[in-house]
Amino acid sequence: MSFPQDFFWGAATSAYQIEGATREDGRGLSVWDQFAATPGRTYQGETGERAVEHYRRMEQDVALMADLGLTAYRFSIAWPRILPDGVGTVNQPGIDFYDRLVDQLLARNITPVVTLHHWDLPLALFERGGWRNRATADAFADYATTMARALGDRVRWWTTLNEPWCPAYLGYVEGIHAPGVKGDTQAAVDVGHHLLLAHGLATQAMRAVMPAETRIGIALNLFPIFAGDDRPETLRAAERAYRFHTRWFLDPVFRGEYTPGLFDDFGAEPPPIQDGDLKIISTPTDFLGVNYYNRWIVRAGSDLPADGVGTGVEYVTDLPDATFTEMGWEVYPHGLELILEDLTRNYHPRMLLITENGAAFDDTWNGNGRVSDPQRVRYLSEHLRAVGDAMAHGAPVVGYFVWSLFDNFEWAEGYSKRFGLVYVDFATQRRIIKDSGTWYAGFIANQRALHATPPKPPLPR
Ligand code: FCB
Repeated sequence: MSFPQDFFWGAATSAYQIEGATREDGRGLSVWDQFAATPGRTYQGETGERAVEHYRRMEQDVALMADLGLTAYRFSIAWPRILPDGVGTVNQPGIDFYDRLVDQLLARNITPVVTLHHWDLPLALFERGGWRNRATADAFADYATTMARALGDRVRWWTTLNEPWCPAYLGYVEGIHAPGVKGDTQAAVDVGHHLLLAHGLATQAMRAVMPAETRIGIALNLFPIFAGDDRPETLRAAERAYRFHTRWFLDPVFRGEYTPGLFDDFGAEPPPIQDGDLKIISTPTDFLGVNYYNRWIVRAGSDLPADGVGTGVEYVTDLPDATFTEMGWEVYPHGLELILEDLTRNYHPRMLLITENGAAFDDTWNGNGRVSDPQRVRYLSEHLRAVGDAMAHGAPVVGYFVWSLFDNFEWAEGYSKRFGLVYVDFATQRRIIKDSGTWYAGFIANQRALHATPPKPPLPR
């Protein structure tokens, strides 16, 4: 496999999952601080209060990235570190932290890819309605402008939001993510709209203050959907699942419209859309970030409501030949090729970035500098092959980021799920590069060697 010379070889993280230091240097609280501190919300009540102490260990961590040979690093900015109240006074130490991080990365030739919002909404904004309140979208655009002014001279790649599907749906219907509301499909639809609006407003606001070569996009969690059988009602079920898992956020951003039938599937009214909203939401993006983990197979079935797909849709999970990760997600590399090709055909993104792909396995450290994780090596190499196949079929992919650089705070799963290329012994905070990290470093080195200019032959005398 040979990828283009300037292809990004990266790893990804997010602020709340790694930084810790949640009360240091003037950081305000976020919905995730509150949610995780509420009994019964996360695995064993774990929180991101300490996480992997990246806030304190940032310089060493960047050195580790350089050891792995990463050419890009995707991280998120904690909005409550920058604006403790969500709006208003800027907390300079918060800016300074990311400023130093960016400089450290650039000094090591690692391209920063910034995510502005990876779910840690300032608690102060939540108390004023959070994403249910349209004003939160304006607050986001102001925050985006602040960051663009602070880092826009050095950071070229920006994603507005990470997976708005999660705070909308998992946050307001399943209740397993912050803010932990259950069963409010109308809120999910409204929250989704304001997140989309925030994306559009921020894109416009950032473009106004940043150089023309800035690249702005959004990262979505996308799944190829398979019909479990060929009954017409199963095909209808698959369409509903596709609307819910894939088109909900794509259609507004790339087509300037909501998918017909989407709100009916939810059993909800349309969100409060104002004149011009869809135009703002569909402000052209430079790239689409794809977070890929698995596919879904569905069939017509039980009368129980399943997700936002309404009643009558059933997920097929009994797959005797499949392998599953510790998250219970099926390992299905070919799905990555399929989704990339589908996106290219149907949405024509200018560029695609794989902003997340990876797997949790039950890794153990032998106490002696080695973590053997052959399943992750295999997972990564098969998914990279799928990326190569999609590119051979025309998908404009420009980079790949492993989720995740480190083992970290996996949201509701606490520290029980390890996704890292680097193992973290949470008690001592020791970092140990896993075999998959070593493998990935070798893969990157090989790719770079393929493009290295051969030494010039000696001049004839
Ligand atoms: C994605 C999230 C990321 C991480 C992975 C496993 O949905 O964006 O923060 O939790 O899943």
